[in-house]
Amino acid sequence: MTRIVYNTASSLNGYIADDDNSLDWLFAVESGEAPDHGTFMRDIGVIVEGSTTYEWVLSSTKLMENPEKWTTFFGETPTYVFTSRELPIPEGADVRLVGGEVLDHLDEIVTAAAGRDVWLVGGGELVGQFYDIGALDEIQISVAPAALAGGAPLFPRTTEPGDLELTEVKRFGDFVHVCYSVQSDPS
Ligand SMILES: NC(=O)c1ccc[n+]([C@@H]2O[C@H](COP(=O)([O-])OP(=O)(O)OC[C@H]3O[C@@H](n4cnc5c(N)ncnc54)[C@H](OP(=O)(O)O)[C@@H]3O)[C@@H](O)[C@H]2O)c1
Repeated sequence: MTRIVYNTASSLNGYIADDDNSLDWLFAVESGEAPDHGTFMRDIGVIVEGSTTYEWVLSSTKLMENPEKWTTFFGETPTYVFTSRELPIPEGADVRLVGGEVLDHLDEIVTAAAGRDVWLVGGGELVGQFYDIGALDEIQISVAPAALAGGAPLFPRTTEPGDLELTEVKRFGDFVHVCYSVQSDPS
């Protein structure tokens, strides 16, 4: 059964990017080892992200200039980008621009995953929109030993006691990988 999973790295005080949408603070931290991203990706049938994240992916790896890199990074996995704008798409990349209510796209996203999981890359507010309609099953966070004075929030929502069940904690170098199962349907 398809699960909808938010998997991201975060500062220890709950930011996934700094005020300039930079991840330099994250890459500056030596991880030593890391959760097995290849294994995680094998279970992923669809990627979902907001436009700031998508534009960061495009620019940080110069994907418009080197569109063949898209398949190297993401294979044939469809990527749904939530935006209100027309955004560039690397040639040959299966990128689907959508906007408005998450609920209006949920069936299509789950169907496209074809029984595998949906990876919510971020940002946090978009993940919150999935949570708001009871469409978030799991949160997986790699917590970096770094704090930021501000930036893009990890998950700007208020949960109730018992909504999140701790399912896994592992140490990877200086990072803590922590997983929560989302228990309730808050809608
Ligand atoms: N640490 C990590 O591992 C990690 C992981 C993911 C992301 N990041 C970083 O974190 C930052 C996240 O940026 P962000 O907080 O701005 O979030 P984001 O979700 O990447 O982008 C937010 C934008 O997406 C569009 N959007 C979101 N929901 C929408 C909806 N329902 N309908 C239409 N458009 C919608 C809106 O822009 P428009 O309508 O103007 O397009 C909105 O301003 C980025 O810098 C990213 O690179 C870090």
